[in-house]
Amino acid sequence: VMIFVPRDAAALALGADKVADAISREIAARGIDARIVRNGSRGMLWLEPLVEVRTSEGRVAYGPVKARDVPGLFEAGFLTGGAHPLCLGLTKEIPFLRQQTRLTFARCGVTDPLSLDDYRQYQGLKGLERALSMTPPEIVQEVTDSGLRGRGGAGFPTGIKWKTVADAPGPQKYIVCNADEGDSGTFADRMIMEGDPFVLIEGMIIAGLATGATKGYLYTRSEYPHAIQTMNEAIEIARGGGFLGPSVMGSGHAFDMEVRAGAGAYVCGEETSLLNSLEGKRGIVRAKPPLPALQGFLGRPTVVNNVISLASVPVIMDRGAAFYRDFGMGRSRGTIPIQIAGNVKYGGLFETAFGLTLGQIVEEIGGGTATGRPVKAVQVGGPLGAYFPRALFDTLFDYEAFAAKDGLIGHAGVVVFDETADMLKQARFAMEFCAIESCGKCTPCRIGSTRGVETADKIAMGIEPEKNKALLADLCNTMKFGSLCALGGFTPYPVMSAMKHFPDDFAPTHLVEA
Ligand code: NAI
Ligand code: SF4
Repeated sequence: VMIFVPRDAAALALGADKVADAISREIAARGIDARIVRNGSRGMLWLEPLVEVRTSEGRVAYGPVKARDVPGLFEAGFLTGGAHPLCLGLTKEIPFLRQQTRLTFARCGVTDPLSLDDYRQYQGLKGLERALSMTPPEIVQEVTDSGLRGRGGAGFPTGIKWKTVADAPGPQKYIVCNADEGDSGTFADRMIMEGDPFVLIEGMIIAGLATGATKGYLYTRSEYPHAIQTMNEAIEIARGGGFLGPSVMGSGHAFDMEVRAGAGAYVCGEETSLLNSLEGKRGIVRAKPPLPALQGFLGRPTVVNNVISLASVPVIMDRGAAFYRDFGMGRSRGTIPIQIAGNVKYGGLFETAFGLTLGQIVEEIGGGTATGRPVKAVQVGGPLGAYFPRALFDTLFDYEAFAAKDGLIGHAGVVVFDETADMLKQARFAMEFCAIESCGKCTPCRIGSTRGVETADKIAMGIEPEKNKALLADLCNTMKFGSLCALGGFTPYPVMSAMKHFPDDFAPTHLVEA
């Protein structure tokens, strides 16, 4: 019998280790021949710890399971999929999973993250094998044709970035994976690193083959200890498995990589700041140009790609560009792992083709708010993303559609707020966040964010509100166009959208009542 108990940090936080221990004890006490596999998360966080058992019908899920539920589960015969109040039926039939298109996350939650046998059994290394049969320009072309765009947030075409690095002269090139996932409400990078680390390694190797880079760095934050440990173990296993090291799968092409952990500064997710940190310097933003693609790590041509961009490459190489490009809409091709969080009933990771409406994501998939109150606002794209009101729920999940409404998809985090949210406070928070996280290099961000907090406070205190609202808007304009990087440059999105869509929260009457 095989029993699956996730080892993902979200499941661990909810007691997965205790559940696994309780299951082990029960197995021993009952003398049952069963194996516990510590898999990744399926991404249905409200059901964690989600325990599964393999039956002749397929995997049956139970959740959320507490350690004290375990004896009862055995009594109910859960090893053969027996009925129990926590039984969710066949895992693959759970609507939240069934409605998804899992390409990048196909194995996450299914396999043992550190089993190469599992990885190979579920299509692993197929993309790399195909890449090894192609020339570097052919690989770059395939990724370009797939339409894959940077999933870190900016949506820059991955193939074009790779081409820039491939064409750049230099004795040494690098692949840097940006795993410094800092956006509020996002956890897709972490889920891949903990749940399917080999796919990321495979993607990085393919990027190396395509660009001529032989060395990779995975830059993440010390706040992700489980991801760091899993990636380090996976790298060792990959070396032992002969697909990472001096001769990738016996091809003669070298590629090796290592994990580096930063202390966890938001701005170190900005690529140039990340590179400084990686070089052992303070995480301060560098001016662009030069682009990292031309002068990146140690001044050498460097691909800096997000985890999800790189982890999407193996399936593209395996199934082909056309297969991937067929999903999605407009210029947003393929799938995107939407992370639904905040005040929401069904929070978790939902991978789907671009093109759902925001309303579908929040109300249908997310099930509305956890509190049961109406949704007031949704922040998409992290702390620098715009707040969208219900009136914009018809916006399609697509890079251009969001931009057209002064918003951004970013890393596809969706944070839900109910009607008790105070949008002036949220606007103030955006400025405060920027003030705390600013690297201090440029004036609009360093000074502007602090002035922004003060101005928001004046509005809240009813001090010349009209004048101060105009001042806040003016400040946003300066930050938007005068900042060196996205931290200062995008802080205006949450602030301006809060003012525009929720004017009542900035009105004197509201403030007096408050
Ligand atoms: P950007 O638009 O300046 O650059 C995007 C990428 O394209 C960069 O890697 C840049 O080097 C590259 N690039 C641009 N022109 C190129 C060319 N001609 N050839 C090759 N490469 C080229 O955006 P930036 O500042 O890198 O990222 C901003 C985004 O980051 C925001 O949209 C935000 O959503 C996202 N973000 C994500 C976070 C996360 O936790 N994942 C946290 C904070 C922000
Ligand atoms: Fe640093 Fe802020 Fe300027 Fe970015 S916008 S370079 S974080 S001071």
